[in-house]
Amino acid sequence: MQLGEVWEDTKHGHRVGCLDSTDPEHVALLMNGRKARLAIHDPPYNQITFKKLPVEEYVKWCELWIDNTLSILDDDSSLYIWTGADQFDSFQPLPDLMLMLRTKPIRPRSFITMRNQRGYGTQKNWMAVRQELLYYIKGKPPFIPQYTDIPKKTKGYYKQVGGKLTENLERSKSKYITSGNVWFDIQQVFYKREEYVQGCYYKNQLFCSSLTLN
Ligand SMILES: C[S@@+](CC[C@H](N)C(=O)[O-])C[C@H]1O[C@@H](n2cnc3c(N)ncnc32)[C@H](O)[C@@H]1O
Repeated sequence: MQLGEVWEDTKHGHRVGCLDSTDPEHVALLMNGRKARLAIHDPPYNQITFKKLPVEEYVKWCELWIDNTLSILDDDSSLYIWTGADQFDSFQPLPDLMLMLRTKPIRPRSFITMRNQRGYGTQKNWMAVRQELLYYIKGKPPFIPQYTDIPKKTKGYYKQVGGKLTENLERSKSKYITSGNVWFDIQQVFYKREEYVQGCYYKNQLFCSSLTLN
């Protein structure tokens, strides 16, 4: 696939592009006149794996693809941004990115941390296993609660409901623990798929962003 090309799945209508997300024309090409209700970005985190820029420059670069995303998001939509916080460099770019996002017409909804299974700095520091995921919304998108497959065991949290004293397992909507904004139950696998390791996740290798069309 060459830069500027878009491939469309003729069966389900998915569109995959080899595109520059900072270029409004490329984004328009991908969207083909439609709006998205979900955008998930997994950009380079301004660490040496890709290219490290002065953080102000990195944030300006992010602002380009954020603005392009905001222009194609529907009225009620969700925006997720994976990012990092470099403990060797003032935790950049997380706080800088958050400050820039404050100036945009979106509202923060949650600050998710995923626990990586592989980490670094085990001998001289707390092992660094964090991976940050910012969740913002535009309008009022729907939200469906998610549950882990970990059975709920804690008992004894009593509360009056309709004049009756109830125990927390009675009040639960699920017998499993609700997913919160610290994700600790996801198997991290590199270059492997479900057929090799059960329950693994496998993020798209091709492009840093994915959009769900309306
Ligand atoms: C953190 S990686 C994401 C990788 C992928 N989600 C995965 O898990 O394998 C960041 C990706 O963004 C891509 N990228 C960098 N600049 C880009 C741009 N302007 N437009 C689109 N993608 C870009 C890089 O080539 C890289 O593949």
